[in-house]
Amino acid sequence: MKNAEAIEKRRTFGIISHPDAGKTTLTEKLLLFGGAIQTAGAVKNNKIKKTATSDFMEIEKQRGISVATSVMAFEYAGKQVNILDTPGHKDFAEDTFRTLTAVDSVILVIDSANGVEDQTKKLMEVCRMRKTPVIIFINKMDREGKYTFDLLDELENTLDIKVRPLTWPIGMGDRFKGVYNIYQKGLNLFQANKTKISTDVVEISDINSPELDEIVGEHPANELREELEIVEGVYDAFNREAYLAGDVAPVFFGSAVNNFGVKELLDTFCEISPSPRGRETDLRFINPSDDKFSGFVFKIHANLDPKHRDRIAFLRIVSGKFERNTFYNHVRLDKKIKFPNPTSFMAQDKSVIDEAFPGDVIGLYDTGTFKIGDTLNEGENFMFKGIPSFSPEIFQELENLDPLKSKQLEKGIRQLMDEGVAQLFIQQPGNRKIVGTVGQLQFEVISYRLEHEYGANCRFIPKNYHKACWITSDNLEQLEQFKRSKSNSLAKDKDDNLVFLAETSFLLSMAEQDFPEITFHKTSEFKLERV
Ligand code: G4P
Repeated sequence: MKNAEAIEKRRTFGIISHPDAGKTTLTEKLLLFGGAIQTAGAVKNNKIKKTATSDFMEIEKQRGISVATSVMAFEYAGKQVNILDTPGHKDFAEDTFRTLTAVDSVILVIDSANGVEDQTKKLMEVCRMRKTPVIIFINKMDREGKYTFDLLDELENTLDIKVRPLTWPIGMGDRFKGVYNIYQKGLNLFQANKTKISTDVVEISDINSPELDEIVGEHPANELREELEIVEGVYDAFNREAYLAGDVAPVFFGSAVNNFGVKELLDTFCEISPSPRGRETDLRFINPSDDKFSGFVFKIHANLDPKHRDRIAFLRIVSGKFERNTFYNHVRLDKKIKFPNPTSFMAQDKSVIDEAFPGDVIGLYDTGTFKIGDTLNEGENFMFKGIPSFSPEIFQELENLDPLKSKQLEKGIRQLMDEGVAQLFIQQPGNRKIVGTVGQLQFEVISYRLEHEYGANCRFIPKNYHKACWITSDNLEQLEQFKRSKSNSLAKDKDDNLVFLAETSFLLSMAEQDFPEITFHKTSEFKLERV
């Protein structure tokens, strides 16, 4: 296949949501539509149980299984749709943030009753930072939810993005009759059906036609007409360019569990979503159409078998064509490496592939040569940008319980950090290791893996930090002054960047006031950060 053809065909995206809004259900229904799975339930089994608070072995097991479904690909409407799975568990939010660097667009699932939730806001912040095009799917319309216009206002106000409904619900909960497709002028009538796909669409080109009253009843028909009038008055007409620029999010309504509204979503997605996009490097922008191969590692997954320390690195291809058994340049190590067994993750099974194109994600067996963020290319000396670290939320000091095993501990903790399990900050004096995570689970994962894979014993001592901020300043004098006065709260991250560990939000704002010429970055990706 020619590169241009392959690029045009691919649509690589992620589905994101606050836990329980319906991400897994929607993923599964999309796969059903795409023919990638035959029965409902196939994806669900791979889900990390949200109820598990400390049963992390179970979670590790589930994560292992989820490697197989990390990328789910299917063909639909002439497109190759690649869905990149993101973990639902909030303690793995960092994994999700990184996966978002490898997608070209996202579908955000919202529960119609709960509206915008905590996790939704955080995920959208990442999308906004990267200007990722977003489509919103408002789910669970078969249940009583928020008043539709209120919900849309809430989306605009809390997510800081304009919205544009492309379908419109007729009633909700018990009164839910279906959705009107504003974009294609069709009426899709709701039937509760968890296993079958309903594709019966009644074409209603004129919303004032009496046929509408006959089908849905006079009152709902009139309500729909009134609401559509408001929609046209309040929201700008859909503009694909604005969507692609990440400024406007088209909105769809449906009920994933009932297969309802999913087809409209998928059809429109295939029509409007972006084909693989290029990525910025520290040298220049790389276009997908560039002849030479390049890609970056956005996720590393440890092998579940502790006796084999090999891992799988997930590589997103940005440009050119990747070929099996061809030497490529590992830029950070300045080393040529070839891959005899690159795998695709399609359709539950891993299979060896010979070639892959921009937008594809492949798995590379790794014995410790990759770190998250690494670039592979054909020799030019550039590195992809944009795999930011965010401030962890929980900080604990790692204490070595067996001084004879300090080498093992050192090696183990470095490798786990390369996999992105947590962030490590080194504090002086004494090389103290502060481990930062977004969830408590990671600490269990780290101690367990250090013990079982590296034979090292450790314990964690909670630290009262509120946030880690990356520090930069052009005013060197002020920077020195800051370092002197805050020496107890400073640390270095894995790349030797200076980090301020603020104990409270009050102390952070005091520091910001006292040192106005210092910038306190909330992510490690300074250049992409929105101010
Ligand atoms: P998540 O991945 O975002 O965490 O959500 P998931 O798909 O697991 O959905 C969370 C719950 O919401 C599930 O119920 C699921 O069946 C339900 N759900 C999804 N879509 C709809 C919908 O359109 N309408 C209604 N009423 N419910 C929906 P559960 O009880 O947690 O699991 P299960 O016992 O149904 O499997």
